[in-house]
Amino acid sequence: MRVTARGLALGLAGLLAAGALFAWSGLLNVSASSGHWAITSWFLHAVMRQSVETHAGGIEAPDLDDPAMVLRGAGHFATGCAYCHGAPGKPPSPAVRNMTPAPPRLGGTLREWEPAELFWIVRHGIKFTGMPAWPAPERADEVWSVVAFLRALPGMAPETYRRLAHGPASAEGRADAGAALTSCARCHGFDGSGRGAGAFPVLSGQNEAYLLASLRAFASGSRASGIMETAVNALDDEALSDLARHYARQPRPERPAAPPPAAALAAEGERIFNEGLPRQRVPACASCHGRRGDAPRYPSYPRLAGQPRHYLETQLELFAAGSRGGTSFSHVMTMVAGRLEPAQIEAVAAWLASLPPQ
Ligand code: HEC
Ligand code: HEC
Ligand code: HEC
Repeated sequence: MRVTARGLALGLAGLLAAGALFAWSGLLNVSASSGHWAITSWFLHAVMRQSVETHAGGIEAPDLDDPAMVLRGAGHFATGCAYCHGAPGKPPSPAVRNMTPAPPRLGGTLREWEPAELFWIVRHGIKFTGMPAWPAPERADEVWSVVAFLRALPGMAPETYRRLAHGPASAEGRADAGAALTSCARCHGFDGSGRGAGAFPVLSGQNEAYLLASLRAFASGSRASGIMETAVNALDDEALSDLARHYARQPRPERPAAPPPAAALAAEGERIFNEGLPRQRVPACASCHGRRGDAPRYPSYPRLAGQPRHYLETQLELFAAGSRGGTSFSHVMTMVAGRLEPAQIEAVAAWLASLPPQ
């Protein structure tokens, strides 16, 4: 039998019509409880793998061995991922067990993905599966922290996971702390010192009005952070006020977490901070933050001395990119940071990070 073009076209049209009729008839079972046929599941995974490989092409991974990144990623994994994927020593929530497809336990299969591919999955999520995209798309740095943690996850012992994700909070187990503070303490510590690893900003002794404005900004999404937006999501304004008050009353750490930077870099940072950069129309930072970054002019201005270097650099970059809201004065910093060169941001952050917070 000869197949003519006309015959082929008619055949295809017939198939399409039959497909449309089947879909419209309601006979297709969309229930999650009916699961996928093995072949559907195979097909969908193959399509997913191809798509991720193609889209992740050209993404450059930063250095992922930084322990501070692993800590941030682990802390977020416990709130943002574990109820679906489970974690070492923890099963996923029963509420997700019967999803189709069910979220896989993340272990050995992670090794099949390149870091750039994991980045793409966590940043964008996966359509038709329930795997969500990152809550704050502008925060690639946060997504990389999660990737750094995922790379350390295969074979991780439950004890190691608890230490990374729950920190001293679970060990200390302070009886007087409410549930909200206990959850913050996983990352920031009960005293707000940030667990001494430079992974989290110091909250202890920070201005209360500044802390509260920052928490409200995370809650409303005007200050973009997938990690902090998830952390404050379930809290009402009264709880946020209590937490701001708690951390503002803690004594500031005596020593900075960072070792001193190269002398030339520190001197350059100090000069920019105290004199500004008149030619670039950058005012002296000290005029608002105090000469050593520890005496802000108004209660809604933050103390900067002793904050982790990575944190300070990232915040200045976010201000410059226009993606950090916060207090009602955040536009001031958008303007100031927008006029700094990357090397100047590096210098000023290195100097501030080496100062004692007190
Ligand atoms: C609402 C449930 C849910 C949440 C929350 C969730 N995931 Fe997923 N995740 C899924 C589902 C479903 C899949 C797809 C599984 C499949 O294709 O069979 C998936 C797939 C993945 C994959 C690819 C796994 C593989 O080997 O094929 C990775 C990696 C991943 N998720 C990481 C994360 C991380 C990291 C987080 C937290 C930032 C997270 N997921 C949050 C449900 C979730
Ligand atoms: C999973 C870890 C994690 C948890 C849990 C967490 N935080 Fe954070 N927090 C961070 C990180 C990381 C940052 C830095 C955010 C950024 O880079 O924009 C941050 C930033 C902050 C800031 C801004 C500091 C500044 O100087 O502007 C405040 C305030 C804060 N957190 C308070 C809290 C409170 C209160 C809780 C509990 C409700 C909490 N955090 C829970 C990780 C966490
Ligand atoms: C006119 C006053 C003013 C000047 C000048 C100024 N700042 Fe700020 N800065 C602020 C205010 C206000 C905030 C709080 C912004 C917010 O979160 O809404 C802030 C926030 C910051 C933060 C974020 C702190 C945190 O905990 O997240 C950094 C870092 C910072 N400033 C560095 C600098 C540097 C470096 C300079 C000089 C190049 C500078 N600032 C100049 C007022 C100023």
